[in-house]
Amino acid sequence: MDSLDLRLAPMAGVTNAPFRLVCRECGAGPLTSEEIDARALVLGNDKTATLARYLPEERPLAMQLLGADPDVLAEAARRLEAGGADAIDLNMGCPVPKIVAKGQGAALMRDPLAAAVVFRTLRKAVSGRFTIKIRGGWDERTLNAVEIARLAESEGVEAITVHPRTRSQQFTGRAPWEVIAAVVAAVRVPVVGNGDVRSVDDAHAMVAATGCAAVMIGRGALGVPWIFRGAAVSRAERAAIIARHCALIDAHLPERLALVQLKKHLAWYSTGRPGSAALRPRLFAAATPAEVRELFWSGW
Ligand SMILES: Cc1cc2nc3c(=O)[nH]c(=O)nc-3n(C[C@H](O)[C@H](O)[C@H](O)COP(=O)(O)O)c2cc1C
Repeated sequence: MDSLDLRLAPMAGVTNAPFRLVCRECGAGPLTSEEIDARALVLGNDKTATLARYLPEERPLAMQLLGADPDVLAEAARRLEAGGADAIDLNMGCPVPKIVAKGQGAALMRDPLAAAVVFRTLRKAVSGRFTIKIRGGWDERTLNAVEIARLAESEGVEAITVHPRTRSQQFTGRAPWEVIAAVVAAVRVPVVGNGDVRSVDDAHAMVAATGCAAVMIGRGALGVPWIFRGAAVSRAERAAIIARHCALIDAHLPERLALVQLKKHLAWYSTGRPGSAALRPRLFAAATPAEVRELFWSGW
């Protein structure tokens, strides 16, 4: 089954340009940026502008927007498209309290009327692909992924990613894949399945269980970008991929962000290695990128 379309899930603070490109080089399908706050982007916030940066080799690339105000979202989408985004994805899954308090992220799931206005406004603004990423619903009493998916399709949304946990479940419990299957059965647009895929075997199992067109992997790719190779990877190949990732971080991220990213990703790369529990605090205490790399490779 070579045709398995495996994608990297958007993860705030993680899936920036260097990590996305490393995953692409390992075989990941179409990429999505981490969530970008539409209002902050429109207001010209520097940090947000950094999130919207990408490398040309990443394309085709979707930029994911977080917001609730249709006009602000539309303006942000126009700017991202003018900057080269190939697709605009709307975040309807973020569970963070201060985000949902503003009606954004997963809060859009519990307000189909507001969601419909956002879909219509964004559809008019976006000239390329327009996609959404949803949850199973807000909570157990409002499992409305199918309703939202149908509504989105009728408003011209071109693909739907489903992370089937509800907002109340956050990231706990098993991801109920049957919700993905229900959305697949309800719409004609491609559905991307997501949730608890930790291996290529899991991805095949998700396609078999749900009929989804592609599979998105989030936490299962942390420290394991070679999961997208779909085959065994030697120790030497892993070392080359990690070195490439470090070089991309150094070359493309502002200095302070680069240090944080090196620490995070090298900690994930060391997971499961003998001595990794002792290495982690030392990695996080390091003061310079050179020190972080030295600590990591000395234990490799
Ligand atoms: C650290 C972290 C950050 C995340 N940030 C985003 C985000 O910015 N946008 C989004 O749509 N989902 C985000 N998610 C959710 C993931 O995309 C994905 O739906 C979820 O982790 C379930 O997939 P998994 O079991 O493969 O990890 C995030 C998840 C994690 C763990």
